[in-house]
Amino acid sequence: MEIKAIQEKFKSLFGTKGSLFTSPGRINLIGEHTDYNGGFVLPGAIDKAMYCEIKPNGTDKVRAFALDLEEYAEFGLKEEDLPAKSWAKYIYGVCREMIKRGASVEGFDTVFAGDVPLGAGMSSSAALESCFGYAINSIFKLWFDRLELAKIGQATEHNYVGVNCGIMDQFASCFGKEGSLIRLDCRSLEYQYVPFNPQGYRLVLVNTCVAHELASSAYNKRRQSCENVVAAIKKHHPEVELLRDANIAYLKEVANEVNAEDYIRAEFVIEEIQRLLDIPADLEKGDYEAVGKKMYETHIGLSRKYEVSCEELDFLNDIARDCDVTGSRVMGGGFGGCTINLVKDELYDGFIKRATESYEQKFKIKPKVYDVVIKDGAIKL
Ligand code: GLA
Repeated sequence: MEIKAIQEKFKSLFGTKGSLFTSPGRINLIGEHTDYNGGFVLPGAIDKAMYCEIKPNGTDKVRAFALDLEEYAEFGLKEEDLPAKSWAKYIYGVCREMIKRGASVEGFDTVFAGDVPLGAGMSSSAALESCFGYAINSIFKLWFDRLELAKIGQATEHNYVGVNCGIMDQFASCFGKEGSLIRLDCRSLEYQYVPFNPQGYRLVLVNTCVAHELASSAYNKRRQSCENVVAAIKKHHPEVELLRDANIAYLKEVANEVNAEDYIRAEFVIEEIQRLLDIPADLEKGDYEAVGKKMYETHIGLSRKYEVSCEELDFLNDIARDCDVTGSRVMGGGFGGCTINLVKDELYDGFIKRATESYEQKFKIKPKVYDVVIKDGAIKL
């Protein structure tokens, strides 16, 4: 669908044909706000993605058309050329980060579109960065490997979008593998693929369809809290570089040196990193009930300690609990977007019916439901 529309638009705008690339959004089974603290995450790429057609145009300008928004932007590639449109900043940022790493990126024409819902916690922005990272790397025959492309996407967020995100989203978008989750150690960047086919269960996202404002500044504030606590702990334990290196005992030692808010944020992160240590064994045994229990614990921590949930997400989480859903929690950065739910096959229909009907009744918004399908990462089509 997207691809045909992209090709038609590309032909009509630029009178030629380019190459096609795609990169997906992601889910994350568990391990939230742990990536920038050097902890573990368990994401997987999904069957919702960004797609672009692209071709060098022999100039020093990028000409880009965002098909879903019907918007056009044209921009140069120097540091002073930052485009005004927010979507164009992602493409420009990827180019700039490549140039900063010594690559010679020239002008190109592109049309792009996608079906990763925006603001739903499924990483539409990482999908866009990875799609263009992979595409530009390929059309200009650059040397970046997938890890460097993920880092380029992350640096784009930091330097041109203003979100001090971790590496999880871009990593999943670049390294995704059909049928597998990725157990990523965000400190060493070592990873293993964990086949994920929970017999008798389904993984489903319920989208609140709300995205509360200022999510990016609230996100940066959470990260700052973690760094404040690390700085305090480091005075006593110089080896601590990230919350991954700390533990609850270390945290308690600095209780009087950090503010109460930073303390409780760090407590969540340390607990979440700990929860992730047991997950591989649970998955190996096929003990999805244990996994689900941890998902609920994560939700409570994200809601009460890290405070990145919202009324709508808490409401859906309560319904999941009432319906005996095995595991449920807010997914991604928070402040809206989706809950991720691990549901027994036989409970699925009842849960979805109850969740969608009661959510709509309470909030006057129709929630969206997506069955999770785990797919490959960035590719040339
Ligand atoms: C966003 C960020 C990620 C990660 C999650 C929370 O998706 O982009 O790096 O921090 O939030 O786990």
